[in-house]
Amino acid sequence: MPTSSGHEADLRNALPGGVLALLLEALGPTGVLTDPADIAPYVSDWTGTLHGRSPAVLRPSSTVEVAAAVRICAEAGVAIVPQGGNTGLCGGAVPGGPGVQVVLSLGRMRRVRAVDPVGDTMTVEAGVVLATAQEVAASAGRLLPLSLGSEGSCTVGGTIATNAGGTAVLRYGMMRELVLGLEVVLADGRVWDGLRVVRKDNTGYDLKQLFIGAEGTLGIVTAAVLRLFPATPQRATAWVALPDVSAAVALLGVVRERAAGSLTTYELVSREALDMVLSHLPGTRDPMPGSHPWYGLVELAGPASAVDLDETLEMALGEAVDRGLVLDAVVASSPAQREGLWRLREGVSEAQRIEGPSLKHDVTLPIGDLADFVADAGALVEARLPGVRLVTYGHVGDGNLHYNLSGPVSGDPEAFLALHHRLTEVVYDAVARRGGSISAEHGVGTTKRDAIAAVKSEVELDLARAVKHALDPGGVMNPTKVLPNK
Ligand code: FAD
Ligand code: MLT
Ligand code: ZN
Repeated sequence: MPTSSGHEADLRNALPGGVLALLLEALGPTGVLTDPADIAPYVSDWTGTLHGRSPAVLRPSSTVEVAAAVRICAEAGVAIVPQGGNTGLCGGAVPGGPGVQVVLSLGRMRRVRAVDPVGDTMTVEAGVVLATAQEVAASAGRLLPLSLGSEGSCTVGGTIATNAGGTAVLRYGMMRELVLGLEVVLADGRVWDGLRVVRKDNTGYDLKQLFIGAEGTLGIVTAAVLRLFPATPQRATAWVALPDVSAAVALLGVVRERAAGSLTTYELVSREALDMVLSHLPGTRDPMPGSHPWYGLVELAGPASAVDLDETLEMALGEAVDRGLVLDAVVASSPAQREGLWRLREGVSEAQRIEGPSLKHDVTLPIGDLADFVADAGALVEARLPGVRLVTYGHVGDGNLHYNLSGPVSGDPEAFLALHHRLTEVVYDAVARRGGSISAEHGVGTTKRDAIAAVKSEVELDLARAVKHALDPGGVMNPTKVLPNK
C-alpha cells in the first residue's frame, strides 16, 4: 500500500481534533478513507484538468450515516463536497477553496427501494448508477428515459444535483421533469423525507426544486422517486449528412411534423467532431462515403405495435432530401448498426479528451438563432486564435450546443489554455446577444461560477444567496461552488 507523504499527513491532521474519530465511529472503517492513494480518484475530475485536496473521503452506506456524518462535520465547521460518479464537467464534485473540505461519496448508497410499474415510479438511492436504474426499470417493463454518454458511471444523485439533460430531453425533459420526490440530508444533519410518489401536489412551495440543480450546495440528496414511462421497444435511427446548421434546424421541423411524439433524439455532430471520434475510438467507422460539414443523429422510438417507425423516418428523410436539407442518410438496419451510429455521437467527449486539453462551452440558444451563432462565434473565435478547432456538437433539438474548442493542431496546449478567458468571452457574448444560456445542462460548479456573475442580475444573485443562507447558514455544503463571490 502506498504510504502518505509528509504533506498529505499534514492535510489529514487539518481535520479538527476528534473529528476523524467521531466519523470512524459513525461510519465504520470502510466508511472513511484517509490514505492519499485511496483519496486520489475522488479529488480530480473526469477531464483530468481539475485537482483538489481532501483529508478524508466519507462513504456512508445509509441515510442515517449521511446524516451523522453531516452533523459531525457541520458542528466542527468542516465543509462537505457531495460526490456521485464524479463525471461532472464543471468541477462541482472536486474539493477546492479555503478551509478543510471532505468529499462525501454516495457510492455505497446503491439500493433500489421500490419499483411501481402501475404508478410508473421507482424509488432509488442517490448512489445508484444511472445505467443500473435504467436496467431495473426495463426489467419491470418500463422506461427511465434520462440518457447520457456518462450513464455507465454517473449516479441518480449526481444527475439530480446537476439537473442533467442528455439525448432524450426533446421528448421527456431534463432530470427536473423526471423527479417526483426527494429525500435530502440538510446542512444541519436533519433528514427531509420528501419521497412523494404523486405527480400532483400543490401543497405550497415545491421544495424539491431547490435541491435539483443545486450541485450539492444546499443539501445532500440521498434518495429520489423518479417517473417511469412506457417502454419503447421499437426504434428507428438515422445518421444524416447536412449542408449547414440552417438545414439541421429545418430538418427538425420536418421530422417533428412527420413523427410527432415519437421523435426522441435529435443530435448534431460537426465533421471536426466526427474526425476526432474516427481517429481516437477503436471500432468506429464513417457510415457514409465522402465528407460533409455536419451530421445529425435522429431517433424515433415507440411501442412495438405503433406505426412502422423506420417507414415514418424514411418518409421524413425523403422529403428532407427533396428539399435539399439532407445530403445523404443511413437508417440503421440492425441493433449493432444502431449502436455504431450512437457511438459516433456519444464518443465525441471521450475523443476530444484523448486529443488533448479543450475548452468546454455548454450553451443553449433559441433554435432559430443556432446557425447565426455558429457563424458569428466561429469567426470571432478564429480571429482570436487562428487555427483553433471548433468541435461543435450536441443536443440540437434542444438548442443546446457543446461548442467545445481544441487548440490548433501541433500548437502548444499551454498557450491555448492561457487564452481561455479571451476565447470564452467571445463565445459567451455571442450567446448573451441572442438571449441564450452559458450553461445548458452541465451546471456551474467552479468553472462557470465567475461567468455567472456577468449574466445574472443583482436581484437574482441576491435571491440565490438568500436561499443558500436559509438552508446552509454555516456554509458547509459544497462552498465555493455555483454562487459567485460578492
Ligand atoms: P458528480 O460529478 O459526482 O457531481 C456533480 C455535482 O453534483 C457536484 O456539484 C456534486 O457535489 C453534486 N452531487 C453529486 N451527488 C450529489 C448528491 N447525492 N446530493 C447532492 N449533490 C450531489 N451531462 C448532461 O447533462 N448531459 C449529457 O449529455 C452529458 N454527457 C456527458 C458525457 C460524458 C462522457 C461525461 C464525462 C459527462 C457528461 N455529462 C453530461 C456530465 C455529467 O455526467 C452529469 O453532470 C452527471 O449528472 C453527473 O453525475 P455524477 O453522479 O457523476 O455527479
Ligand atoms: C455530451 O453531450 O456529449 C456532453 O454533455 C458534452 C461534453 O462532454 O462537453
Ligand atoms: Zn450534452
